[in-house]
Amino acid sequence: MDTEQAVASHYTQGDFEARLLAMLAATGKDAAHLTADDLTPIEEFHIGGREATVALAGQMQLRPGMHLLDIGSGIGGPARYFARAQGCTVTGIDLTDEFVAIASSLSTRVGLADRVTFRQGSALAMPFGPGSFDGAYMLHVGMNIPDKSGLFAEVHRVLKPGALFAVYDILRLAGGDLVFPLPWSSGPETSFVAPATTYRDGLAAAGFTILAEHARGQFAIEFFRAMRARAAEAGSSRPNLQSVMGADAALKSANLFAALERGLVAPVEMIARAD
Ligand SMILES: C[S@@+](CC[C@H](N)C(=O)[O-])C[C@H]1O[C@@H](n2cnc3c(N)ncnc32)[C@H](O)[C@@H]1O
Repeated sequence: MDTEQAVASHYTQGDFEARLLAMLAATGKDAAHLTADDLTPIEEFHIGGREATVALAGQMQLRPGMHLLDIGSGIGGPARYFARAQGCTVTGIDLTDEFVAIASSLSTRVGLADRVTFRQGSALAMPFGPGSFDGAYMLHVGMNIPDKSGLFAEVHRVLKPGALFAVYDILRLAGGDLVFPLPWSSGPETSFVAPATTYRDGLAAAGFTILAEHARGQFAIEFFRAMRARAAEAGSSRPNLQSVMGADAALKSANLFAALERGLVAPVEMIARAD
């Protein structure tokens, strides 16, 4: 199995949409008539969820009508946010067939299928022509991609000159072994967490100018603490993504929290302009 097949296999569950819908129904949602708001707590697979997406979007100089590229679009939560709240159209690309199918299905269920589309494919060889997009973003995806330079060159190719590319990835801050499983990988063979210099150098070599960079480690630690406090609330009936993410979801989350607290990794935002 090559790296991309192994990454897709890590994320594939087989019955994820059915379990997601069952969990929403169990927490009082009408699964036959879902709204986009019903999905908000469970549709984004990165630290900070919607709050982190909104923070990044605020730095992207967005205008209604822009066509954005979502690299590693998951089940489509961020794309639906950019469509609904920012008035953009969004094309998502993702390696994992099951996620692409769920992203399309959920978007149809909440009436956004005309503004978001999802395709299966690799971020390293995207089926889009040069200069296709007015902007791009990538949320917690680079940790699965060893060739950051190739990735950034490919993103640059499909962006219009002057377009912004927003990255929100987990980066390496210090040496020290990561303990697996982690949310993005069950072992070191599909985990390629890199330091900021790899991102900065790769972006510059691809023709980007970095306009801003923000470490989000403290935000991440506070997010995890709040999540744990909510989970500990007796009788909580909130929609809970972890409960449908598979048997070792709690362990993955605990290992990531420990790595954040040890200062080994942290999420970082970078905003870059395609020159
Ligand atoms: C942690 S999830 C984040 C999903 C989404 N960005 C979000 O924040 O909700 C990482 C996603 O990246 C996708 N991915 C990993 N490597 C990829 C690649 N080379 N090309 C396209 N998608 C990739 C995975 O399939 C997975 O859906």
